[in-house]
Amino acid sequence: MQKSSVDDIRARFDEDVERFSSLDTGQESMVDARTLLDRTTEAAAATTPNATHLLDVGCGAGNYSLKLLQHLDDLHVDLVDLSQPMLDRAVDRVSAATDGTVRPFQADIRELSPAPEQYDIIMAAAVLHHLRTEAEWTAVAGKLYEALRPGGAVWVADLVDHSTAPVQDLMWDAYGSYLEDLDGEAYRERVFSYIEQEDTPRPLLEQIDLFQAAGFDDAEILHKNATFGAFSVIKR
Ligand SMILES: C[S@@+](CC[C@H](N)C(=O)[O-])C[C@H]1O[C@@H](n2cnc3c(N)ncnc32)[C@H](O)[C@@H]1O
Repeated sequence: MQKSSVDDIRARFDEDVERFSSLDTGQESMVDARTLLDRTTEAAAATTPNATHLLDVGCGAGNYSLKLLQHLDDLHVDLVDLSQPMLDRAVDRVSAATDGTVRPFQADIRELSPAPEQYDIIMAAAVLHHLRTEAEWTAVAGKLYEALRPGGAVWVADLVDHSTAPVQDLMWDAYGSYLEDLDGEAYRERVFSYIEQEDTPRPLLEQIDLFQAAGFDDAEILHKNATFGAFSVIKR
């Protein structure tokens, strides 16, 4: 199947700002969305309690930045997203929650060229599954590594695949049941169809390997349930 282009993905998210604007639930189509949001941001705050600079890639409407600002005051926040309507919403919400600077960048994460060693925390929630090839992964992981100060970390919460067919089937069945319980069979089909069209997730351990190949040292798995996981990779 021909996967969605970057323009297709931008157009879909331009129309979907409301769905990404709930801090109470997070993005409900993710299994354990609230746990992913809470655990990732709590762990980031605990790991770099003196953080001053945050980069949120694929920030959407800003939920992960906002949640982190409940633990760390007045961060300077750089927001990156393909979608201008998402960025506009994120800037409004995040500016109200910090006295630090808030800078929006409308860009594809593949095109980013951040200055070296400027961030303590990089959030990447539900965005890296849009990368298609290993070369794209390697390039993006390398740029994120460069952009972090020593001691900083990248925090990922995302859709994941599995390496073996039986486990892959089991986990996607579990995700299907979750979606059906949430909003019925038609909803499950709708979500499965846009995942098929738009997303290219990778196994969680493979993602960590790709980050470590780009230079990251330690890694922590924070959560895993069905087809969603969260982890961090740390730059010593
Ligand atoms: C599923 S939403 C997640 C938003 C937010 N991180 C959250 O968890 O609430 C994915 C976001 O990533 C953005 N996005 C997708 N592909 C991107 C890319 N290649 N570069 C930058 N942003 C991208 C979309 O526009 C969308 O706002």
